Amino acid sequence: MSQSAAPASTVAVDLSPEAFAEYLESQEKKSFLRFITCGSVDDGKSTLIGRLLFETKLIFEDQLAAVERDSKKHGTTGDDIDLALLVDGLEAERQQGITIDVAYRFFTTDKRKFIVADTPGHEQYTRNMATGASTADLAVLLVDARNGIQVQTKRHAFLVSLLGIRHVVLAINKIDLVNFDQNRYEAIKKDFASFAHGFDFDTMVAVPISARYGDNVVARSERSPWYDGPTLLEHLETIEVQSDLEDRPFRMPVQWVNRPNLDFRGFSGTIATGRVRPGDPVVVAGSGREAKIARIVTMDGDLEEAAASEAVTIVLDREIDVSRGDILVPPSHRPEVADQFAAHIVWMAEQHLYPGRPYLLKIGTRSVTAQVTEIKHRIDVNTFDHLAAKELSLNEVGFCNISLSEEIAFDPYEANRDTGAFILVDRLTNQTVGAGMVWFALRRATNIHWQALDVDKNTRAALKGQKPAVLWFTGLSGSGKSTIANLVEKKLNAQGRHTYILDGDNVRHGLNRDLGFTDADRVENIRRVAETSKLFVDAGMIVLVSFISPFRSERRMARDMVEDGEFLEVFIDTPIEVCRQRDPKGLYKKADAGQLKNFTGVDSPYEAPVEAEIVIDTTVGEPEENAERIVTLLRERGVID
Ligand code: ADX
Repeated sequence: MSQSAAPASTVAVDLSPEAFAEYLESQEKKSFLRFITCGSVDDGKSTLIGRLLFETKLIFEDQLAAVERDSKKHGTTGDDIDLALLVDGLEAERQQGITIDVAYRFFTTDKRKFIVADTPGHEQYTRNMATGASTADLAVLLVDARNGIQVQTKRHAFLVSLLGIRHVVLAINKIDLVNFDQNRYEAIKKDFASFAHGFDFDTMVAVPISARYGDNVVARSERSPWYDGPTLLEHLETIEVQSDLEDRPFRMPVQWVNRPNLDFRGFSGTIATGRVRPGDPVVVAGSGREAKIARIVTMDGDLEEAAASEAVTIVLDREIDVSRGDILVPPSHRPEVADQFAAHIVWMAEQHLYPGRPYLLKIGTRSVTAQVTEIKHRIDVNTFDHLAAKELSLNEVGFCNISLSEEIAFDPYEANRDTGAFILVDRLTNQTVGAGMVWFALRRATNIHWQALDVDKNTRAALKGQKPAVLWFTGLSGSGKSTIANLVEKKLNAQGRHTYILDGDNVRHGLNRDLGFTDADRVENIRRVAETSKLFVDAGMIVLVSFISPFRSERRMARDMVEDGEFLEVFIDTPIEVCRQRDPKGLYKKADAGQLKNFTGVDSPYEAPVEAEIVIDTTVGEPEENAERIVTLLRERGVID
């Protein structure tokens, strides 16, 4: 391993102006290959990338010196230089011996330019893989020749296929450690083909390599004379991938409306696919409003044509309504517009996905509220079987129906990886919890319309001489929710108010009879009750809801369903020790004895409110006084007078 290798940028460039211009042009014309590498921590992924970078001579001497120093400190290769250290950037990662987060690396050869997304192999990092894979044309799946195909390999192959990558390379690494055994190579290749044939990859090539010693990575190895296929780099340099983003129908999600003064109004964004010229007709996907492109403006002046990946500002020939989140498309090739679709979801959070829970769905530049209405099936990543599922946990993949708060424009992922991919974000923590690929629009929603009614909420409420409201009581079992709600209702009734109580135990006898106490069932329990309370508000009533309602997310959903000021959260804040002492139904006793599973506060979580309108501590004051405090709150908030 020579340390005096000069970096590529200074070698072999004849500095005559003509030759230099020619060199630059040839560089410009080189095609691009985006690929990802997947493998588990010990498969040698970082070493492989380090090897590619090293052999294409993009490593500078001072960097090499640092690596050599570090190899002695942390390396896993004895006194040799540990190429993985070039790639495993962060000190913390080095010490743990794993790579986190996606790192994009660039390298170039005479034939091609490459961007490699290094995606971590650690189980919980499916998320990073989904991120890295979304723009890749090819995936290099690494396996350790000694271990062969692992569960991880299958999972990666499945995700790679799901994410729309059509070309895979099986890099059978550490072939030196099995003495360049051809039989071993053939067996692993066959094993891979046996399950991967279902994935419809366009190409699948298996290369026996040693990332550590360089065999068949860039140069052909003399130690595997039986192998007559390409080296890894040869394959990467020559494989034809169709990166035809520019030839697909035009799509530009509007990032922002650029209106510096009254004379200029342009729509800025990055063209996802296709190409446009001034004069081309476009429509706003959602509204169908049409205009012609007047100008394509950039920092460097107007363009005669713009194509995929370019950031531009489009000026139209007439004023039409366009806002951030809209997609500009050609009238002849419109995307789907719907508020329900079926999609694959890769779940990436510790907290499970529950049908009915609202998430923020971000697609292109648009964000809307979304709920999974049904998990059609979960896909077992080992067997690829379709299994029934009520929820999805970390790293699981499900095929789901999704319902949105409003219509959006999208394409099936298969047709467009930009306008067909979305992420799900937790509304409380703002974390990305899932990645999705749209399969098809669901048409069922399109034939249902809101029925316009002449008598509305205000009329109904006026007749009752009150303002409608939801008093949402939340707290542990035995905290005193029902007792206090009951007293509040009595007081309101005495004042001639029209009320109704929705109580957990009662509703669970009827409407929610089919639900138990798993987290998923509780989410559905509260979703139904929230919907019901909304109907009561619409009926002009003051509705008292008394449910444990353990999750912030669903209480927030209930709040968002009604108008500002109509929802009052009442936290019955009784410490669990007090509830346990009271134990009115003997349930704590059973739960503590292990006879009752998933009991709130014992082996099922309770997320205390952070934005309650009123907190009642039942260990101080009589129930009567506490109820009176709530009635006073209603008066202060103008619900009653
Ligand atoms: S919630 O969590 O889904 O909001 P809900 O308020 O409907 O619960 O029902 C709670 C009532 O069901 C409790 O008051 C208790 O009487 C009864 N119950 C039975 N099993 C459980 C359990 N495992 N956890 C909590 N409550 C239970």
